[in-house]
Amino acid sequence: MPTTLPDLQDWRFTVDFEGIAWAVMDREGESMNSLGRRPAEELGEIVAAVEEAAASGEVKGLVVISAKESSFIAGADIREFERFDTEQKIEDVVRQTLELVNRIDRLPVPVVAAIHGYCLGGGLELALACDWRIADREEGTRLGFPEVKLGIFPGLNGTVRAIAAAGPIDGMTAMLTGRMLRPTAARAMGLVDQLVPTRHNLRWAARKAVLQKRKSPGAPWWKRLMLKQPVRGLLAKRMRAQTSEKVREEHYPAPFRLIDLFERYGDDPARMRIAETEMFTPLMASETSRNLRRVFKLSEMLKDEAPKTGFKPRRVHVIGAGTMGGDIAAWCAVQGMQASLQDLDEAQIAKALARAKSLFKRHLRTPLAVETAAARLIADPTGKHLKRADVVIEAIVEKLDVKQSLFQKLEREAKPDAVLATNTSSLRLEDIAKPLSDPGRLVGLHFFNPVAQLPLVEVVRGERTREEEVRKACAFVTAINKLPLIVKSCAGFLVNRVLAPYMMEAVRRYQLGEPREKIDQAALKFGMPMGPLELMDMVGLDIANHVGEELNLAPEGDNVLAGLVRQGKLGKKTGEGFYRWEEGKPKREQVAYDRAELDRLGRELVQPMLDEAERALSDRVVASADHVDAGMVFGTGFAPFRGGPLHYRRNERAVTSAAS
Ligand code: NAI
Repeated sequence: MPTTLPDLQDWRFTVDFEGIAWAVMDREGESMNSLGRRPAEELGEIVAAVEEAAASGEVKGLVVISAKESSFIAGADIREFERFDTEQKIEDVVRQTLELVNRIDRLPVPVVAAIHGYCLGGGLELALACDWRIADREEGTRLGFPEVKLGIFPGLNGTVRAIAAAGPIDGMTAMLTGRMLRPTAARAMGLVDQLVPTRHNLRWAARKAVLQKRKSPGAPWWKRLMLKQPVRGLLAKRMRAQTSEKVREEHYPAPFRLIDLFERYGDDPARMRIAETEMFTPLMASETSRNLRRVFKLSEMLKDEAPKTGFKPRRVHVIGAGTMGGDIAAWCAVQGMQASLQDLDEAQIAKALARAKSLFKRHLRTPLAVETAAARLIADPTGKHLKRADVVIEAIVEKLDVKQSLFQKLEREAKPDAVLATNTSSLRLEDIAKPLSDPGRLVGLHFFNPVAQLPLVEVVRGERTREEEVRKACAFVTAINKLPLIVKSCAGFLVNRVLAPYMMEAVRRYQLGEPREKIDQAALKFGMPMGPLELMDMVGLDIANHVGEELNLAPEGDNVLAGLVRQGKLGKKTGEGFYRWEEGKPKREQVAYDRAELDRLGRELVQPMLDEAERALSDRVVASADHVDAGMVFGTGFAPFRGGPLHYRRNERAVTSAAS
C-alpha cells in the first residue's frame, strides 16, 4: 500500500516506520478544522487505505490528530448546511458520513484520537468511534456536544456512543446542555480515556496506545445498570423536568426528542442507532434549527466586524463605578485586561470591587485565576492609570455638561492613540464631543445591563467620529469577548429604539386592564427570555420611564409607569414596581391563561417592535437587516429560534402570501 496519499487537501496521511498510520487533519485555507464534504471524502480515502493495509498486516493502527493551533475538529461545517434543504438531502449526507464513522469504528486495528483544542459536535462523535481517546490538558482544549444549541442532537450515532462511554447521566447531560467540557471533566465522565499535559505529549502517547492496543473500557457496570427500566424511565422523567425549566418544548424540541430517544431505546444500541437517524432528519430540516443556525452565523458576522487592526488593547480605564462602570471594568478584568476603576465616590469603587469578586468566582475556574483577575482590577480614585490606558470608558451620571468637561480633561491626559468612549444611553455623541479639540475621536461603547450576561455592545459612530476610532472600538469589544454592533448615533441607538415600543406596548396593555402576569406569560410564550413588565422592574422603572419619554413613547392617558415612578416604586431596587419583590423574586399570581389567547397577545406585544425594526433599517441605523436581527437577539435575547425580528417578519409574510 502507499505510505502516503499525496492528493489530499484537508488531511495529511503517512504510515511511519513502525507501521502506525497518521491521519493529520489540516483543512486548507481555514484556521479551524470542521467536517464538511471534502474532508469527509478524503477521510474516506484514508479509511479505505487503512482497511486494505490492516488486512495485509502492513498497518498496526491509526492515529487521528489535528495540525491546527486551536482545534481537533470543531464540529460540522455549518456553512454547508444550507445546501441540505430537503429531508432527503439531509438523510443522504447523514447516512454517508455515518457510514464513514462506522467504518472507523469497525477497523480491525487500534484507532486513537489525539485531541488538542476544540473537539466538538461531529468531531467528538468521530473521536468516540475511535478505540481510545487522549486529550491534552491545555487551556484551549474543550470537548462537547453543542448540537442542541443549533436545534439538533448528535446524528453520527454519537448519542449511542456518548452513553456507552460516559453512562446515561453524564452522556445525556453533555448532549442536553451543550456545555463545553474541560479535559479533566471529560476524563472524569469517561468521554476521554487518557490525559497528557500538553499537545507535545500527544503523539508519543498515541503511539504507545496503538502499540499497546488500548481499548476504552466504556462506562462502568453501575452506570450501565441505569440503562435498564425502571431506572431509565425515571431518569428520562427527571431530564424532561430539568430541561423544561430552561426551555419550552414548543420552542426548542431537540432536547426533548433526545430524551424520547433515550427513554425508548436507551438499552438497545442497535435500535437506538436507527432511531437516531430517523429522529435527527426532521429536526435538522426544521424552521427552528434553520433559525438557530442563522443566529450562530450572525454572531460570526459580528465577530468579523472587528477588522484586523494593529490595535491591541491591554489596559482599560473606566470612569464611574456605578451599575455599569463597575461591571464593565470587572468584565474586562475577567477577560484578561488590566482595568482601573475611577469614581468621585470611593464607596462606589469599594462596592464595585465586592461585586466583581462574585463575578470572578462565577466565570473563573480556580482560586488562582480569581485572584489574578482581582489583581488586574485596580481601584483608582484619583485616575493615576488614565495616562497608560489604551481604552478609556466613561460611565458617569447622564448629564451633558459633566460629561463634556470630563472628556475635555480626558482628551488632554489620555494617550493620543487611546480610544475615548462614552457609555451614554441617551445623550447625543455630537453634543458630548462639541467642546473637544478633536471631536472625531469620541466613540460610543454602549454596554447592556447586566454587562456579564448580554453579549452585545453597540459601537456608536457619531456624525464626526473617525472611522479608525470605530474600528479600534470594535477591536476592543472583540478582545473582551463581546459582539460589536456598529450603530449610527440616534436616539436609543438600535436596541433601545426597537425594544422600547414593545415595552411601552406592555405598559399600555397593563393600563388597559390586562393582568401583568398574562402580559409577561404571553411574551415568554412568544419566546422572549423575560416578560416586559418584569424586565422593566429589573432595569428600574425610572430608567424605563426615562427611555420611554426620551423616545416620545409614553403611553397616552394616565401613564401608570410615570405614576409608579412618582410613588417611588422603581421596581426590584425599591422592592416594588409592577410587581412586589421578595428575596430578589417578583411575587406573581399563579394563573393559567388560555394558550391561544397568550399566543395572540404575545404576537400583538411584539408588533410595535417589528415595525420599529423596519423603520430602524430604513433609517440605516445599522448596516443591514441581518445587523438589526443580530442586535435584537444578542442585545435583548429576542427569541433566537425565530431568527431575529426582521427574519421572523419575512417568514411570516412568506407564509401568509403562500396561504393566500
Ligand atoms: P450610576 O448612577 O449607577 O453610576 C454613576 C457613577 O458615576 C456613580 O458611582 C457616581 O459616583 C459616578 N460619577 C458621577 N460623576 C462623576 C465624575 N465626574 N467623575 C467620576 N465619577 C463620577 O449610573 P449607571 O446606571 O452606571 O450609568 C452610567 C452611564 O451608563 C450613564 O451614562 C447611563 O446612561 C449609561 N448606561 C446605563 C445603563 C443602565 O442600565 N443603568 C445601560 C447602558 C448605559
